[in-house]
Amino acid sequence: MISISQRAKDIPVSATRVLLPFADVAKKSGKNIYHLNIWQPDVSTYDQVFSRLRESLPEKGYIPYWPAIWTEELRKAVSGFYKNIMNIDLSIDSIIMTIWASEAIDIALNIVCDTDDKIIVFEPFYANYLTSAHTQKVSFVWVECKQESGFSLPNSQDIEKKITEKTKAILLCSPSNPTGYIATEKELRELLDVCKKHNLFLVVDEVYNIFSYDSQFTSILQIPGTDEHVIVIDSVSKRYNLCGARIGMFISRNKEVLWAAKKYCKRRLSLPMLESQAAITALSAPQEYYESLLEIWKKRRDCLLKGLQDIPGIEYQVPAGAIYLFLKLPVDDAFVFSKRLLTDFEYEWSTVMLAPWVGFFTNPDTWKKRVRVAYVKNEKTLQEACLCLKKALEVYNSQTTKSLEKKWFVTNI
Ligand SMILES: Cc1ncc(COP(=O)(O)O)c(C=O)c1O
Repeated sequence: MISISQRAKDIPVSATRVLLPFADVAKKSGKNIYHLNIWQPDVSTYDQVFSRLRESLPEKGYIPYWPAIWTEELRKAVSGFYKNIMNIDLSIDSIIMTIWASEAIDIALNIVCDTDDKIIVFEPFYANYLTSAHTQKVSFVWVECKQESGFSLPNSQDIEKKITEKTKAILLCSPSNPTGYIATEKELRELLDVCKKHNLFLVVDEVYNIFSYDSQFTSILQIPGTDEHVIVIDSVSKRYNLCGARIGMFISRNKEVLWAAKKYCKRRLSLPMLESQAAITALSAPQEYYESLLEIWKKRRDCLLKGLQDIPGIEYQVPAGAIYLFLKLPVDDAFVFSKRLLTDFEYEWSTVMLAPWVGFFTNPDTWKKRVRVAYVKNEKTLQEACLCLKKALEVYNSQTTKSLEKKWFVTNI
């Protein structure tokens, strides 16, 4: 019998989409779903992008290939963003444009590892890293960030204990998806010292770089002496709400790394042509754009925190950045609860979709009460979603204590 490969069968499920089939059924039955499971914000895209897109429509009757990596105007726009907004000097030679951030992550894993080499990753982690590791044939070694210490990075000794001859890099996401933790300058310096001592690369996913609310975000690119070791991943998806444009960035000052990355990019011949134009305009947004954006996101975070205050039994760390909160629920298994929110619950014809623990970590014992909440919707929706979640927990806990199997269903309580 014909069959697909074992490794295709083994591709990890997307943690943020695993419950989508249940959500589809719920929607068909007429339920409204508050989507707190995934990044699909209702914040407007940076508006200048639309006129640029209209102007960019080709006059000839076809959409041409667009340079695979060396679009100078686009790389100048990236360099301008880093100079004007991040206060970081970046020559355009250190920037390679990619198709989405995940291409940049895959390229980074390929460049730093041979097959079966190992990368140290902090847990909990961005779920799609697992798929990248799987497809790029790299193994991850986990070091846990403790909830008691606000998900701060483990100390150097704990990291060094995990380093073997096979270890080739450390992968960090800051600001973090899913915890919102922002690595401090001290932590970044320590990580870099570990990398220098053991000859490792440091790959830092900074796609949420401007999303910092209470503490200062430090980019690894701001730490001196990073040239040989550091690769930074960036994307236009989050900052400009251009998720569908699929434009990412691979940044390094290591010439050999850049040389190898270009070879990977040339294979796919082109960047998306229209989206590249959109990205040029977006990356040239003035300081005021970022200020107003941050105001919107901070209000959303604070609105979520206020809504959560009314829910008994939950635990969380206030996220300093990104757009997520990693919530501990008063349930045995947050996956079961999240699924049943979709299949068996409604409050005023609505329910909440969450991203449960699967895929964010490797150790269910520590984390299985956790869900990731993406505060991507407007404040009214967040308030309604929090109320809905509160009602669901009340009913779920009162019924599951009597019988785990008992169906639970609520309307307008
Ligand atoms: C930490 C992190 N890295 C990378 C990505 C992927 O970004 P892109 O939309 O450019 O593929 C995401 C998307 O959610 C993310 O959260």
